[in-house]
Amino acid sequence: MKVLSVASEIAPLIKTGGLADVAGALPAALKGVGVEMRTLVPGYPKILKALGEGRQVMTDGDLFGGPVQVLFGKIGELELYVLDASHLYYRDGGPYAAPDGFDWWDNPERFAALCWIGARLANEGQIHGWKPDVVHAHDWQGGLTPVYMQRLGASHTVGSVMTIHNIAFTGTAGADMVHRLRLPMEGYNAGGFEFYGRISALKAGIAYADKVNTVSPTYAEELKTPEFGMGFDGTLQFKGENFTGILNGIDTDYWDPATDTHIESYKVLRGKAKARAALCEEMRLDPEGGPLCVVVSRLTDQKGMDLLLQALPRLIARGGQLCLLGSGNAYFEERFLEAAAENPGQVAVRIGYDEPLSHRIIAGGDAILVPSRFEPCGLTQLYGLRYGTVPVVAKTGGLADTIIPLTVATKIGKVATGLQHAPGSGDALVAALNELCDIWDEPKLYQQIQRNGMKHPVGWEVSAAEYAALYKAAARTS
Ligand code: ADP
Ligand code: GLC
Repeated sequence: MKVLSVASEIAPLIKTGGLADVAGALPAALKGVGVEMRTLVPGYPKILKALGEGRQVMTDGDLFGGPVQVLFGKIGELELYVLDASHLYYRDGGPYAAPDGFDWWDNPERFAALCWIGARLANEGQIHGWKPDVVHAHDWQGGLTPVYMQRLGASHTVGSVMTIHNIAFTGTAGADMVHRLRLPMEGYNAGGFEFYGRISALKAGIAYADKVNTVSPTYAEELKTPEFGMGFDGTLQFKGENFTGILNGIDTDYWDPATDTHIESYKVLRGKAKARAALCEEMRLDPEGGPLCVVVSRLTDQKGMDLLLQALPRLIARGGQLCLLGSGNAYFEERFLEAAAENPGQVAVRIGYDEPLSHRIIAGGDAILVPSRFEPCGLTQLYGLRYGTVPVVAKTGGLADTIIPLTVATKIGKVATGLQHAPGSGDALVAALNELCDIWDEPKLYQQIQRNGMKHPVGWEVSAAEYAALYKAAARTS
């Protein structure tokens, strides 16, 4: 089975969030279940540099305002098609936003171009001898691919899968862009890619793909409700059995405390104590305090950062500590920096994106907090499990599917891996942090929860098989 993945970011090359981790991990994870995956990505300067020469497999004289070529090559273990389009991607700044933080003005064209090439590769794969059985598009940036596959006739022979990593990013463009984006006018309706009077690339992917999934079973159920569906609930209900949830895994070789090169590696909790001591020293936190709660996150409303700010004084009053790494909303950045200034030794904050530091923080913490309002899957709680850093999470989406909360039953059965609280409530978070402080005072119980987490499977084994089955169901031939 050959699958072409269409993704706007891919770890370790370019990453703004978990989508990159998933796009980067899937090819290796799928190898074991007989799926050969190649990934089409935009030719951001960083990716082109890492690719070097590449082999030209496709050209287009005018794709949304300029000539482009598609290069094929390997970077590490990843087999990539790179869309080299200077007028769309040769820019300083992020994959979606300019250095001033505003979205690029031409994002609709930038990712329509990616999808167009995805559909062409599906259609004309024979040009270079690799034709996918299925195209797997991610989020709104890949959402137009199934529409173009239909337009170009590829959908007769090639199946399509669309994964929703986050419903909040809808990829909208003005209705006057239908022709400009090479979309079929007859698709501009409620059953197609129209969304409240605009074009939505996410809606396009949902409506046109053969199979749609999101990244956890609970989030799949939540998305079918008005509370979580953000206007897509009806469309997703309409997909019926063609909309499912498949839980994300993590790359257990890269996120492995026993081999992690960013820390002094450890296999058992005694070793973890060293990582904790190192983190306290680096971040000037009082090593006698605790529990040391850590956060590695985008600082946004989705992630419940306002709730954490609300709960923080109570955590500190109980002797708990916070070490946070993140960036995003300027208001949250300032408030957390203020909290650090006001609570030396108890609160440490780093604003920015720092991969090695994220490992040191996750390894050094006693607990990892993920108080999200909604969370399609979430990855940092999985890192927490693996590193013996007890997840304290909101009971929503993938957070509900990955943590076994401490209850009377799980305490007796000795199977708990973390703590859970109701989402969207500062009081519920305070209660969970109080519970954390209580069990912190019971070292035996605390260590048992840590050990349970370290043993809990967080890899791709189960989900890779589920993706393989989904591709099989979407493919035109078996
Ligand atoms: P989302 O994709 O919604 O941001 P996930 O939990 O799925 O949430 O994935 C976030 C990924 O980004 C994780 O791999 C996390 O470690 C990483 N990450 C988030 N913020 C930072 C940061 N400031 N520095 C380093 N890594 C970060
Ligand atoms: C999104 C979600 C996150 C998920 C990630 C990877 O960014 O917010 O919950 O883990 O995608 O699927």
